[in-house]
Amino acid sequence: MAISISSSSVAASNKRLLLVAAVALALSASPSAVSARRCPVRLRLYMHDIVGGPGQTAVRLVKGPGPENPSMHPGNYFGDTVAVDDLLTEGLAVDSAPVGRAQGTYMTGSMRHPVFVVAVTLLLTAGPYNGSTLVVAGRDDTSLPVRELAVVGGTGALRRAAGHVLWSTARVESALHAVLLLDVHASVPAPSKAAATAAESLVSSA
Ligand SMILES: *[C@@H]1O[C@H](CO)[C@@H](O)[C@H](O)[C@H]1NC(C)=O
Repeated sequence: MAISISSSSVAASNKRLLLVAAVALALSASPSAVSARRCPVRLRLYMHDIVGGPGQTAVRLVKGPGPENPSMHPGNYFGDTVAVDDLLTEGLAVDSAPVGRAQGTYMTGSMRHPVFVVAVTLLLTAGPYNGSTLVVAGRDDTSLPVRELAVVGGTGALRRAAGHVLWSTARVESALHAVLLLDVHASVPAPSKAAATAAESLVSSA
């Protein structure tokens, strides 16, 4: 009996959900929702994190007071914070075409697990997004082969970007140099019809 009551209430709430979905569809079909369309942004970047030696681009700012994180190499403490100005390249090799810099910080964000909390801005210096930035934040659990971080915003041609980055360790060159693959799946708002029309009339009046 209890089962039949709960299943009928599930059916009722499914009906409500369908109704909500139908309303949402109707709204998205209205002309005012056209500006909600988005253009995909797909990028594959290699980030060179060099924590010492020649070509160093990452420096430790904060040494956590301890205890040591038992899942990491000795000498790693909860709260350790590193500032980076890491080179981004088109290919895996450090001498392949430079395409930007990853600037920001990562912190050992777990007391027990090998996890960094990352906050970096990717400045692009080549290609169609030259001069634009993507702001990336999230949890880098290095025990997983692929981690997911969030694209929380952007500037320039990437203004109001949203999406995610599939973040993985592509190669460990040495104890001081790790290469990360940043596979960006994001989108930006499509130019609105009004903006496109304004741009067109500017072009035609020129
Ligand atoms: C990127 O933009 C800067 C500034 O406008 C320019 O100097 C540079 O040549 C551009 N780089 C590429 C690879 O297009």
